[in-house]
Amino acid sequence: MPNTALAFAEKNREKALEELKAFLRIPSVSTLPDHAGDVRAAAGFLADELKRIGLENVRLIETAGHPLVYGDWLHAEGKPTVLLYGHYDVQPPDPLDEWLSPPFEPVERNNNLYARGAVDDKGQLWMQVKALEALFQGSGGRLPVNVRMISEGEEEVGGEGISEYVQKHPEALKADVALVCDTEMFAPELPTLCVGLRGMIYTELEVRGAKSDLHSGMYGGAAPNPFMALAEILTGLKDADGHILIPGFYDDLQTPAAEELAAWKSLPFDEEHYRLTEVGSPELVGEKGYSVLERIWARPTLEVHGMPGGFIGAGAKTVIPAKALAKVSMRLVPNMTSAKAYELYAAYVQKLAPKGVTVETRLIHSGEPVVVSTDNPFIHKAVTAMHEIWKKDTVFVRGGGSIPIVGEFERYLKLPVILMGFGLPDDGLHAPNEKFHIPNFYRGTDSIILFLENCGA
Ligand code: BES
Ligand code: MN
Ligand code: MN
Repeated sequence: MPNTALAFAEKNREKALEELKAFLRIPSVSTLPDHAGDVRAAAGFLADELKRIGLENVRLIETAGHPLVYGDWLHAEGKPTVLLYGHYDVQPPDPLDEWLSPPFEPVERNNNLYARGAVDDKGQLWMQVKALEALFQGSGGRLPVNVRMISEGEEEVGGEGISEYVQKHPEALKADVALVCDTEMFAPELPTLCVGLRGMIYTELEVRGAKSDLHSGMYGGAAPNPFMALAEILTGLKDADGHILIPGFYDDLQTPAAEELAAWKSLPFDEEHYRLTEVGSPELVGEKGYSVLERIWARPTLEVHGMPGGFIGAGAKTVIPAKALAKVSMRLVPNMTSAKAYELYAAYVQKLAPKGVTVETRLIHSGEPVVVSTDNPFIHKAVTAMHEIWKKDTVFVRGGGSIPIVGEFERYLKLPVILMGFGLPDDGLHAPNEKFHIPNFYRGTDSIILFLENCGA
């Protein structure tokens, strides 16, 4: 018997893509206060579509920040309930001058759709919506399973709103499994399930010296320079081999099981290709004794994102800045906790501070690392669904990135989580010219359709 939902999806592909473009035109940058209205507009756009396709109880749920978008359909008696999750907020588009076409004017080039949020995560969220629409349309307004769909507009800034909601109202998201579409495939054409994510703490480190900016000739030599102090602190946090020097930082770290490490060795990974095409630096760096995949999936890291302050205009200005700031984050792996990591970091920063300055650290947001168990029947349903679409066996990988709510779905909702993503390694998440490979948008939708059908079978 032909699959009516797949047939509907196939027939409506171009339409789905055009709708996604409209979604992408809304610059829902969650971290920039000026875009709060756009973030809300994207929430409204999504909610309207959820109503249109047939979800019920569709509403915006207010948080202290950007709203959540919720909808459900709970009439598949005796069938499991699937909680679908994605995020409709995006990263800032800068540096703007590196985009070949404007970030919020989606265009197709070479079978790719280019726009900020194309793959992270509006495109992947839209696949979920289109999969539900196809299932409704293919079977007279019914779904093969019960569905709750929750989307957030704060994932890229730590996801505090959804975290609070999940902890306060676990019964409102009651389900048997969560399907998260916000990760990548390990390689083109290779169906992939992600079974681990790093956690993180995102901090600001502020160094203050003199009471105000000073003439660097009149005071240089006697007044402390907060940027020099900041540089000293930063280089004291991590050595040249990428080893983090914060005492106790690695104490709770759990090494992946031997079987998992062995499986990573058989993944199709070419370090030189990765260096050239994805990283593009003269050499790769990192901790000695660990493979690249171990470094990005199973080891913590400490990175500096930016150092605002002082004189950064064109030309020269001779000034000793009164203060210097660094945005510093650390990625965490099982079984590290964000609370302990932050405590150890904050204390060590004070120890590293040279004389003449005061140092303050602030925690901006945090999320816990997760490994999801492969020991549940829904994993098998996902693998089968993807095999039908991609004609290949699924590989299991971890992701170096973070999706803070995933751990909380496990912890507070006690759900197995399926991380089924369709990004490609060169999609440029968070970077200029982010894209979504259009065939992946279509086959991803089909994979979700079959997964939901399998869950209901
Ligand atoms: N979708 C990514 C996370 C991701 C990417 C996981 C690729 C696995 C593979 C997510 O939108 C993201 O970027 N998260 C932020 C979270 C942070 C701001 C709390 C991240 O990882 O930097
Ligand atoms: Mn994402
Ligand atoms: Mn992201």
